[in-house]
Amino acid sequence: MRISIIGCGYVGLVTGGCLAAIGHRVTCMDSDGERIRALMAGHIPIYEPHLDEIVLAARSAEHIEFTSDLPKTVEQSEAIFICVGTPPLENGEADLSALDAVARVIAAEARGLKLVIEKSTVPVRTGEQLRRALEVYGPASGAVFQVVSNPEFLREGSSVSDFLHPDRIVVGVDQPSAAAKMREIYQPILERNFVCPVHDGACPPAAQPQFVVTSINSAELIKHASNSFLALKISYANQLADLCEELGADVEEVTRAMGMDPRIGPQFLRAGIGFGGFCFPKDIQAFYRLAERAGVEFMLLKEAERINKARIDHFLEKARRALWVLKSKQVGVLGLTFKPHTDDTRFAPALEIVRRLLAEGASVRAYDPQAMRKTQVVYPTVKYCEDPYDVAAGADALLLLTEWPEFRDLDWQRIHGQMVRPLVLDGRNLLDPHRMRQLGFEYHSIGRPG
Ligand code: UGA
Repeated sequence: MRISIIGCGYVGLVTGGCLAAIGHRVTCMDSDGERIRALMAGHIPIYEPHLDEIVLAARSAEHIEFTSDLPKTVEQSEAIFICVGTPPLENGEADLSALDAVARVIAAEARGLKLVIEKSTVPVRTGEQLRRALEVYGPASGAVFQVVSNPEFLREGSSVSDFLHPDRIVVGVDQPSAAAKMREIYQPILERNFVCPVHDGACPPAAQPQFVVTSINSAELIKHASNSFLALKISYANQLADLCEELGADVEEVTRAMGMDPRIGPQFLRAGIGFGGFCFPKDIQAFYRLAERAGVEFMLLKEAERINKARIDHFLEKARRALWVLKSKQVGVLGLTFKPHTDDTRFAPALEIVRRLLAEGASVRAYDPQAMRKTQVVYPTVKYCEDPYDVAAGADALLLLTEWPEFRDLDWQRIHGQMVRPLVLDGRNLLDPHRMRQLGFEYHSIGRPG
């Protein structure tokens, strides 16, 4: 099928690359000419495991092309995935102006039958507005539009694998024929009959993905409801961690046993310095706002957000308790991204902690495997180090803020030898408390005794 992707950010590039990898002809369009030129030259502008492999392979096979020409893209495609940004407005609601602008061009340029698929995260009832815009700005040429909501459930850091091996594919439609076309697009993934570029064709066994057909409104709601629920789960674990600290229990032991109950499940129960990234914080706010507009006060969401914001205060308080005064102390920071395996620092708790440390007069040395260049622009006074050992040199404390697995495997004895004071505050419970104390560290983590 001739498919186009409008918007070459995280979601758009992964969607385009994966659809090309399973055999479609894909055109990726972005209004940012520089981004398109980079992609045409074979440079993938974001770090995402396996994305470069699949995009470059598709490019060599001429299954994918890049352009800034929206009208031409619309003209030549049967299915159009809209993957433009929907960032938060000041009031927490989603900014849908990019979506609206694209809809108007699609309406004006389309001929024949077009499947218009919203992939961007949008508030419920956006599909209705999208259909209206397509009709109102549509040409007299008799173009026919089928609007579909097809939310993504991709996690940064594993989005290629998530796309190719999903638990479910949700399509919100108002006509059965649109669902049939979506099924055709996803057929290789649903039947698991493509050569997987992530696992060299030897994918771990998994259940066949569910193909879930709903109304457009339900599909839109499923996305916000899923992200918000996961955020609630994390805030629950974090509040539990506070209680464990007070009562001498270990949150890791508690959540591990809780997660063995299939009704609860083990995922998203990791306590720490809170959730960040471009999805959970904005989605929980947008969901709260849309509920409020509908006359429903979704206080659970507000509370989850409040608990999350308080994680930073709680962690800094721990640092103050251990270091007494932060001013003029040398603090080493390991990890700047909102989670490992990404270069994304948007709404990263780590960055907020760095900001507050600097504001209190600490001098900060930092290391992150992917995000140092980006962070340098925002915090030029931080000393960015070659490696974690350099961060530890002369430090009064080390703060572990992102659970990059390589931090677990460091030579902690060597680090101990380099610090002025062997104090480690582990904001992600990555390290083994017993081992750290055996090595002579004063070690504090989240919700664990000691
Ligand atoms: C999230 C969802 O997991 C995806 O399903 C969704 O498609 C995506 O948002 C989106 O809306 O586009 P992502 O933002 O990439 O994906 O990150 P997650 O892996 O969900 O982690 C979010 C945050 O929660 C991170 O800061 C992570 O450190 C934190 N987290 C996660 C915890 O603090 N504890 C946990 O147990 C799990």
